[in-house]
Amino acid sequence: MSADAGKREAARSALQFVEEGSIIGVGTGSTVNHFIDLLASEGPRIKAAVSSSEASTERLEGHGIEVMELNASGDLDLYVDGADESNRLLQLIKGGGGALTREKIIAGASRRFVCIADRSKLVRALGEFPLPVEVIPMARSFVARQLKELGGIPNWRENFITDNGNQIIDVSGLTIAEPIKLEDTINAIPGVVTVGLFARRGADVLLLGGEDGVERIDR
Ligand code: A5P
Repeated sequence: MSADAGKREAARSALQFVEEGSIIGVGTGSTVNHFIDLLASEGPRIKAAVSSSEASTERLEGHGIEVMELNASGDLDLYVDGADESNRLLQLIKGGGGALTREKIIAGASRRFVCIADRSKLVRALGEFPLPVEVIPMARSFVARQLKELGGIPNWRENFITDNGNQIIDVSGLTIAEPIKLEDTINAIPGVVTVGLFARRGADVLLLGGEDGVERIDR
């Protein structure tokens, strides 16, 4: 089974969490794209979605699904999103698609975060995938130096601007032994908007699509 087929099966499995007439949070990425398409074709009819990116908004609206602002929806019962890596504690690295800030906001505003991914995203320790950090543009070099002091190798994602008008530094070479501590440390650097470590608020349920079907891991 290809990674993409695993993503699609995980996305299909997330439909069981969606309630008819509800407002749900929707993440960003290729796995979520499957979720949006399946929701439109075979899922329950929802009232509206709160979207984490311009790309997901466009896809949702393309299917005739109403997109609502988080300021108008209030807290949500469900958020469905992908991840770049997850450990067994359902702490995540996210932001490969650059939508980490809105993703973290919606995850924080949701009672249940269902993460969908293909099996390759489950790792023993986070950090092989370069950690995305969204920064205010004028702080980019300063933040990069601070990240170097933490032992990382910062790499500016050139020619990429987030939906919030900011820039991304991808940090490789970090040993993430204590994800919550590192999340707090990077968050405290002036100029950092969001770090793509979702450790304080990780997922509640992880659905992993692979050869033997979909594995479910609960927090
Ligand atoms: C978007 O910014 C990311 O957080 C995505 O959720 C993550 O990169 C997973 O993407 P795929 O579903 O495309 O693997």
